[in-house]
This record gives sequence, C-alpha cells and structure tokens, in this order.
Amino acid sequence: MEAISIGLLGLGTVGSGVVKIIERNQDKLMHQIGCPVKVSKILVRELDKEREVEINPELLTANPDDILKNDNIDVVIEVMGGLEKTKEYLQEAINHHKHIVTANKDLMAVYGPELLQSASENQCDLFYEASVAGGIPILRGLVDGLASDRITKMMGIVNGTTNFILTKMSKEGSAYEEVLKEAQALGYAESDPTADVEGLDAARKMAILSTLGFSMNIDLDDVKVNGITEITEEDLQYAKQLGYSMKLIGIAHREGEKVEVSVQPTMLAETHPLAGVQDEYNAVYVYGEAVGETMFYGPGAGSLPTATAVVSDLVAVMKNMRLGVNGRSAAVPQFEKKLKDDNE
Ligand code: NAP
Ligand code: HSE
Repeated sequence: MEAISIGLLGLGTVGSGVVKIIERNQDKLMHQIGCPVKVSKILVRELDKEREVEINPELLTANPDDILKNDNIDVVIEVMGGLEKTKEYLQEAINHHKHIVTANKDLMAVYGPELLQSASENQCDLFYEASVAGGIPILRGLVDGLASDRITKMMGIVNGTTNFILTKMSKEGSAYEEVLKEAQALGYAESDPTADVEGLDAARKMAILSTLGFSMNIDLDDVKVNGITEITEEDLQYAKQLGYSMKLIGIAHREGEKVEVSVQPTMLAETHPLAGVQDEYNAVYVYGEAVGETMFYGPGAGSLPTATAVVSDLVAVMKNMRLGVNGRSAAVPQFEKKLKDDNE
C-alpha cells in the first residue's frame, strides 16, 4: 500500500510536534486511513540549525519548489507562519493540486475565503483546525457539531500567551517582561509576540470563529482590539483584592444579521468559569439558539497540543482522499452581514 507523502513547511514548535505525532502514532494513523504516512520534505530557513526532533538531514530543503511543485507530495502542511509569501506558497501548492493543512491564523483571517475558494475549485482540501485555540477541536465543533443550530454568541479566551502572562502576573506577582520571555521559551508566543500582547492574534481567531460560527465573512478590520500591554501588576493585584480576574476576552455577538466582534481585557468575577482558565489554556463559550450554552476548553498553544489538531486535519484530508470527495467542504458560505453600529 503506497504511503501518503507529506511536505512540511516549517520545523519549529508546531512542525516538530507534527513530526513527533506522525512518528509516534503511525499505527493509529494506519488504522484510520489504511496506509502509512511519511514526511518526505521539510522546508526551513536554516538547514544546519539544531532541531527539537531528530530528522534525516536529506529531508530538509530551503527551496519551496521541492515541496510545492513536487509531484510526489500529496499534502502540504504549513506551519511556518507569515502572510504574503505564505499565501503565495499555498496558492502554488493548490495550483499543483495539493491538499493543505495550516495552523496559520494570520493567513486564514485575511486570505481564508480566497484560498478556500481556490482550493475548492481545484478539488483540494484546506483545513485549519490548529489556527484557533491550539489543541481544542473548536472549528469542527462549530462547523460539524453545531451545524444544525443558529449560533448567536461566542465568548472566550483564545490566546494562550496573554493568558499565561496574566495568570503568572496575578498569581505569582511575576514581572510582565519576564513572563513574556517564559511564554516565548515554551513555544506559546508568535515569533513576533507583538500580535499576542496587542490582541491581534486573538482578533484573528475571533474573525475566524465568527466567520464559521455565523456563516458570514467577518473582516479582521471589523474586529475592535485592545491588548494587555497597558495592564500593570498593580491593576491585577487590585482586581484580585476585589474578587476579580483580568482576562483577555474575545466576544462575537450577532443580532439578526448584525454582528459585533471585539477583543479586550475584561474583569471577571472569580466565580466566573472563564476566570478559572489558567496559564496557556483557552476556553470558548458558544451559545446556540437551540443547544443553549456549550463550552470548549483545553490547551490553546504549544507544540504537541497544536500538532494534534494539525495531524487530525491530515487524517480528515486522507479520509476524503479515500472517498474521493476532497474540496467539497472547503468553500465558506458568504452571507451578507451588517456591522453593528455603535449608536444603535
Ligand atoms: P516557529 O517555531 O517560529 O517555526 C517556524 C518554522 O518555519 C521554522 O522552522 C522556520 O525555519 C520556518 N520558516 C519560517 N519562515 C520561513 C520561510 N520564509 N522559509 C522557510 N522556512 C521558514 O513557529 P511555530 O510556533 O511553530 O508556529 C508556526 C505556525 O503555527 C504559525 O502560523 C503560528 O501562528 C501557528 N501556531 C502556533 C502555535 C504555537 O503554540 N506555537 C499554536 C497554533 C498555531 P527555521 O527553523 O530554519 O528558522
Ligand atoms: N501565540 C498563540 C497563542 C499560539 O499564544 O495563543 C496559539 O495560536
């Protein structure tokens, strides 16, 4: 039985986790999809860098065409990050009829609809479960699990780095700069952590969640954003004395066809379930008209949790390959939306 051949773009925090899970869980993958999975080529910037995983150096390349235009590669897994160049790479891969799995929320929040459309036209899958809330299967929860319901509100913690920082500052009195460095060392933060601490990473995730949850294209520019850079240790201690926790909260709300999406630091009573979400963990409440309140909770960042979502997407691609239905679910429904006017 021929192996499914993977081209990996990136071998950092998430890429290393993907290689580990594919190696460790080969039996389970084989059982689920009926054939072996092998990583055939890996794109990196520095060929000689020390890696988190042991890797045959012959698999590494600095030339994207070795993957994007390689007829022997079936699926491209993008875990390198970035926007314009990455979009170009993925479009090239789609043009060469490769299925895509990505963990890149920057890309999906900005170019998601365009890439999904192109993937669909080329009978390619494009899955991106890892782009929101790391290891929590929230996108499938929305698209499949709650497919029959009308979702009206989503609210939660969708950035692991800022939750880690706020937790440590509040519980241990640690200094902001020190905890940020710790979050970077643990692989939670983006390569440029500005997007984390200024709330943009959470805004991208809220744009993706509300696009899927509300079946409307929500532009990133429409999300109101405030990060945690202005919050001091004194603010957190003061909140604690009053029985509150400070959390970076994303809220997406829909009334009729009007939508409002925002990310902002919020004081929560310590009895609120989101106040108990610690460290790099994420949690999202989803309210549906029929189901009522549901909550998704789990690790929102980090190598293996995120890689779990990536490799599960890979399994979904391979199941579709077996059924010959790739690309059928890629397109995002585009319903007209109106932004909620502040004056209303
Ligand atoms: P990372 O540790 O910085 O790794 C990035 C990898 O991509 C590195 O191996 C790097 O090569 C390679 N790379 C970057 N730009 C490249 C280029 N232009 N050409 C060739 N190779 C390039 O990043 P990460 O934390 O794994 O994150 C990867 C993606 O997953 C990002 O989109 C991120 O937002 C997303 N994500 C991350 C997490 C998390 O917890 N870390 C969770 C969910 C989603 P070198 O190693 O040679 O430098
Ligand atoms: N930097 C992101 C976070 C990684 O801290 O949540 C997971 O998307």
